[in-house]
Amino acid sequence: MVKAVVCGAAGGIGQPLSLLLKLNPLITELSLYDVVNALGVAADLSHIATPAQVTGFLPPDNGAERALKGADIVVIPAGVPRKPGMTRDDLFVNAGICATLASAIANACPKAFILVISNPVNSTVPVFAETLKKAGVFDPKRLFGVTHLDIVRASTFLATVLGKPQDAPKYKVPVVGGHSGVTILPLLSQAEPKIPSDVLGDKAKRDALVNRIQFGGDEVVKAKDGAGSATLSMAQAGAEFAEFVLQAAFGGKKSQRPVQAYVYLGAEAGGEAVKKEIGADLDYFSVNVELGPNGIEKILPIGQIDAAEKELLGAAVKELGPSIEKGATFQPAPP
Ligand code: NAD
Ligand code: LMR
Repeated sequence: MVKAVVCGAAGGIGQPLSLLLKLNPLITELSLYDVVNALGVAADLSHIATPAQVTGFLPPDNGAERALKGADIVVIPAGVPRKPGMTRDDLFVNAGICATLASAIANACPKAFILVISNPVNSTVPVFAETLKKAGVFDPKRLFGVTHLDIVRASTFLATVLGKPQDAPKYKVPVVGGHSGVTILPLLSQAEPKIPSDVLGDKAKRDALVNRIQFGGDEVVKAKDGAGSATLSMAQAGAEFAEFVLQAAFGGKKSQRPVQAYVYLGAEAGGEAVKKEIGADLDYFSVNVELGPNGIEKILPIGQIDAAEKELLGAAVKELGPSIEKGATFQPAPP
């Protein structure tokens, strides 16, 4: 019996993500929470003949906590998306929504796996962690900033550059760092299968590929021209990442390879070695993690990176520090 909750379920990501979770046979109960239209989305999805029983919740009568009660996994795409010309940092207005949802989780399902999609991820994950710490229920093994769309994009864009777009699922590129522009650090030197030297060794081709992965989100924002940012690809990436967590926790199937997510690196989480590797005292970073029944079993090393990636790492670290600080010191308005 696995209960999943989507917060922000009526939104551009929330609706297709809720659909994909409704199709996940591991999930037996699916609660959909939003400040608007959650009941309609729930009624619609509830007609699909899969095991998950779907219920919608709106804010009145403590709706968030009623939705979250006893949840095993909570996926959060709540909050405003970008419009052309905005950075993800401009979405820091979402911090208040994140703090409110984190408090509700602390009360209703303190042991749930928490998957944060709401931007700016580099700051909203520290907002979640600090709120959970204040409530005395922070478990770094169970909090994930979802950066999986960057990994999905890296597979697609690499396969395209190699002239084999149909092979996208075969290409695996670890992407570490954060989730915004230059904080997104694709480790092309670690790609599997290996990238041929006529691409990896060609500075112009390599720079263009890195840039496309780092700024893939902007491509969608521009194409949607004011109507929002990536929703469908994010829903797929979010559902796939939720599946990794659920399989490791409840399905008895660990992922064959490490997955990457933006996680807490404090000593109690076992992140000290990664801090040494990146040469910076950052408390959050997207890293390789091994998943298990309790979430993050182990934070794994980033491993060998080449000179080009070392340069990108410097830029990522520089931008991440202030974003983390901004989230970690956020003071929500009193209720
Ligand atoms: P959207 O505006 O279509 O949907 C957001 C939903 O959140 C709306 O239905 C809204 O009613 C709801 N909401 C607002 N306040 C809420 C609250 N207090 N509690 C519950 N729900 C609330 O936006 P979207 O396109 O779905 O994007 C959502 C967020 O995800 C944005 O911040 C966006 O930047 C982010 N995002 C992240 C990634 C990633 O890779 N992590 C990718 C794409 C988008
Ligand atoms: C993305 O990478 O698509 C998201 O972070 C949304 C955005 O604002 O680009």
